[in-house]
Amino acid sequence: MTAEFRRLYPSAEGLRVFRAPGRVNVIGEHTDYNYGFVLPMALDLAAYVATAPSGDGKLRIYSEDRKEMREFDAAGLADLAPAHHWTDYPIGVAQEAIRAGYPIEPANLLIRATVPDGSGLSSSAALEVSSALAFLAGRPIDPLELAKLCQRAERNFVGMPCGIMDQYISVFGREHSAVEIDCRSLGHRFVSLPAGVAFIAVNTMVKHALAGSAYKDRVRECAAAVEILKTRYPAVESLRDVTPGMFEPAAHLLPDVVMRRARHIVTEDVRVNRFVEASQSGDLAAMGRLLVESHRSLQYDYQVSCEELDFLADAALPIEGVYGSRMTGGGFGGCTVTMLRDEAAANFRERISSAYQDRYGLVPRIYDCKPSAGAGECKNFETIPALV
Ligand code: GLA
Repeated sequence: MTAEFRRLYPSAEGLRVFRAPGRVNVIGEHTDYNYGFVLPMALDLAAYVATAPSGDGKLRIYSEDRKEMREFDAAGLADLAPAHHWTDYPIGVAQEAIRAGYPIEPANLLIRATVPDGSGLSSSAALEVSSALAFLAGRPIDPLELAKLCQRAERNFVGMPCGIMDQYISVFGREHSAVEIDCRSLGHRFVSLPAGVAFIAVNTMVKHALAGSAYKDRVRECAAAVEILKTRYPAVESLRDVTPGMFEPAAHLLPDVVMRRARHIVTEDVRVNRFVEASQSGDLAAMGRLLVESHRSLQYDYQVSCEELDFLADAALPIEGVYGSRMTGGGFGGCTVTMLRDEAAANFRERISSAYQDRYGLVPRIYDCKPSAGAGECKNFETIPALV
């Protein structure tokens, strides 16, 4: 990556490289903006940002995979409006950094991303967090503030009313562990998954256009549910506060669609907690069942799945060694995550890939989900992977 940097820019004096990972969410989908629980793991797929001072007042950003260079006046960053372009992610982060009291120094940036775009593996948060670290260039920041700053960039500048999960796990990921995040307290605990078990993400290779608008609809529908449930339970501030025992007698107060959205969130929070318990007691069958229940709830109640995701989740289940499978991330395309016996992985990859090709004529990309460390500086440039 340093060689590419030198080819692109006249000076690599003071070059530093920062990395931030993508993630796969094991369970707890769409619960984050309802202040509930999620259980993601950071991946070894990541965004890398190389940066060195430009010395000429400019901020230049080059994306290797898009082969595109953009140039900005560093002094004018705070006044830029969104351009509906990939640069909205770093520029949104720059604006939030400036607001948080970190002026942006003129610099040349080179971005390399190994997290596939539109895969539901959180390429956006990886880009936000790695850009933030590059802009900070070693200035200290509290890790939680870093995650929140990047979430604000996505909400305020990119215009996606996302929860905190993706930015949080990109910052707080840890090798060999999934991370259970309480999206209200913003605390977390590390969850080591049972030995002998693998998690594999399979990419539908599609992203349906509905994704952005449907996400906003779900956020609104959940807020509508809260407003109505409050009339019965005044202490309820978010769906996180509603237990299944409270929900059942009040469900009839909600219009059908809103009721189903809320039912997904209320039951999904319980599934996250059960999954963690089952993982701790090594109950692999229960873990698998919870993954399938989560998928069904996203498919029928929350309605954020799609035909291709349903196909992959269903086709995984009869394959030897599979415990469970579900869509992961925002939905409407992207990946499924499948939990299976370690030794069953090679056969699984072959079978799921040929089933998907037979059905859709697309070769799904398949990723081993190896829990990896959260964001930081890459001191050893040799460890930066080549562009895939
Ligand atoms: C996207 C958002 C996250 C989360 C997931 C769904 O990835 O960025 O905040 O809401 O969807 O769980």
